[in-house]
Amino acid sequence: MKEFAHDPLEEHLTLRPAVTADAAMVFAWRNLPSVVEAASQKGVIAWEEHHGWFAASLRSDARQIFIIHSGGQPAGQIRFDWEGSGQAQVSIYLHPRFTGRGLGVKAIQAGCLKIAQATGVVRVLAWVREDNTPSQSAFRKAGFVRSDPGEVRPGLLCLEFMQAAAPRELIHHPS
Ligand SMILES: CC(C)(COP(=O)(O)OP(=O)(O)OC[C@H]1O[C@@H](n2cnc3c(N)ncnc32)[C@H](O)[C@@H]1OP(=O)(O)O)[C@@H](O)C(=O)NCCC(=O)NCCS
Repeated sequence: MKEFAHDPLEEHLTLRPAVTADAAMVFAWRNLPSVVEAASQKGVIAWEEHHGWFAASLRSDARQIFIIHSGGQPAGQIRFDWEGSGQAQVSIYLHPRFTGRGLGVKAIQAGCLKIAQATGVVRVLAWVREDNTPSQSAFRKAGFVRSDPGEVRPGLLCLEFMQAAAPRELIHHPS
């Protein structure tokens, strides 16, 4: 009988709120070359800066960081920043070991649905580097479309979550 290798990425994806103990893990992810390259503000972050930013983020009512788990393993983070008037901005990165297999698409959609259900947020925007076509593709697959936010950020494109544009098979209920 044929045997199939166990693929933990096919197991349930979960998002959980980040906690203080995640600071070093998120710091290591943020300074991975693939993440530095994709960041809207490029460059490696120093630990002191990250540590203060992370602690303030956990205390903040205007920001929510989730750790993305796949098959029980921490795979990346997705963050929502409230911008007022029912609007939030999303940003995401995965460890490269987890990219290219649709996990980010599922996490983006799960995060947006979770935020929409749990808060008054009705509009989620993503600012993506013009040269980051893999990320633009992932956001589009999650149900984002080009948006005109009435603001220009040099080198960045704005995309907006349209739940109706999201493929229904991706919609699930993360814990
Ligand atoms: C952007 C990101 C969250 C998307 O999640 P994902 O699970 O990789 O999404 P997908 O598997 O659908 O891949 C999206 C596209 O990127 C491509 N891609 C992803 N990882 C890749 C890799 N390591 N090498 C080559 N291509 C890759 C995929 O082929 C896919 O292309 P396609 O849509 O044209 O088929 C994830 O790739 C990531 O964290 N990238 C690094 C950080 C980053 O860019 N963050 C977003 C900043 S706005």
